[in-house]
Amino acid sequence: MTRVSIVGGSGYTGGELLRLLIAHPEVEVVQVTSRSRLGEFVYQTHPNLRKRTTLKFSSPEQLEPVDVLFLALPHGQAQTKIEHYAALAPNIVDLSADFRLRDAAVYQKWYGSPHAAPEWMNKFVYGLPELHRAEMAGANYISGVGCNATASNLALLPLVNAVGDNRADLIETASPIIIEIKVGSSEGGAEGNPGSHHPERSSVIRTFSPFGHRHTAEVMQELGLPNVSLTMTSVDIVRGVLATAHATVKPGVTTKDLWKAYRAVANENPFIRIVKEQRGIYRVPEPKILAGSNYADLGFELDESNGHVVAMCAIDNLMKGASGSAVQCMNLMLGLDETTGLEFMGLHPI
Ligand SMILES: NC(=O)c1ccc[n+]([C@@H]2O[C@H](COP(=O)([O-])OP(=O)(O)OC[C@H]3O[C@@H](n4cnc5c(N)ncnc54)[C@H](OP(=O)(O)O)[C@@H]3O)[C@@H](O)[C@H]2O)c1
Repeated sequence: MTRVSIVGGSGYTGGELLRLLIAHPEVEVVQVTSRSRLGEFVYQTHPNLRKRTTLKFSSPEQLEPVDVLFLALPHGQAQTKIEHYAALAPNIVDLSADFRLRDAAVYQKWYGSPHAAPEWMNKFVYGLPELHRAEMAGANYISGVGCNATASNLALLPLVNAVGDNRADLIETASPIIIEIKVGSSEGGAEGNPGSHHPERSSVIRTFSPFGHRHTAEVMQELGLPNVSLTMTSVDIVRGVLATAHATVKPGVTTKDLWKAYRAVANENPFIRIVKEQRGIYRVPEPKILAGSNYADLGFELDESNGHVVAMCAIDNLMKGASGSAVQCMNLMLGLDETTGLEFMGLHPI
């Protein structure tokens, strides 16, 4: 059994990691940290785990050496203590934004302060298996992914020249690519703020970032798109992200070409599904049916009269957008089947 621990286990992504890892057949969860819940049973914070674990929260100061350490800390914390964490485990999966970007200057531009450990930035593989599966085999350090970046990267993946055998070059990448993103409240973490207070957050359709969201940097970096913009809107759901990207296809590209590109990506990636139906309720990707599952549902529509393509991706932000991808990365890192422990197919109706 692989011994794993979670630093920052009382938060939402930490809770989701625990749900996945205590049911994972190849790992044993050794320690889960929380400073504010020290000594409490983890199920008192994550009530869905009652009767499944008797683990109690430990102090991050008393971590034992393990095989894999998951870091589920607020932004900026992992980079200040990365040497300490690396001394505790040969393998690290960090869910934060600290090691997603490759370039220290790009990091400073988007995050507003210098990186505390720039020499570590290139030691991490970007944590989206659909883009970096080959590099993950045997890697020691894998970063997390931004949930909005993941929905965006996967929405556009079949359309751009991004990975090995799936090479496609179907859209005008010099033209603006606009991605509208709707997000649920769990994206903000368990801590809370005035905007997440129920009377303020309930029933909203609130655009909080028309452009300039930090996750834009991950889409630029990973897909090589110089002219991409994300618009972020909070909606009244707890889990889920829906990315709706607008782009222009190259002259002559048809719906048939897009089908071929989407099928190639879905065939190579166990958690990518195509949702494009002519009838029924679920004709396009929708986060509602993905809660708790690691699937990313992709869809598209092309107006062949003017080349406007609408590419969609729905995910659960805590799964494919965070902890699900992190466990998938761990599986690849350890040479396990990447779907191990991630088979839950979601609920319907919900
Ligand atoms: N929520 C999402 O949808 C999502 C998606 C993708 C990526 N992420 C990223 O994943 C990370 C965690 O997000 P989250 O939503 O799970 O956050 P969260 O709910 O706020 O949880 C943060 C956790 O870190 C612990 N913590 C805080 N400061 C710490 C410190 N200095 N040292 C040790 N532990 C500390 C907290 O517990 P104590 O304070 O009790 O120790 C808590 O367990 C973030 O970097 C976020 O950007 C989140």
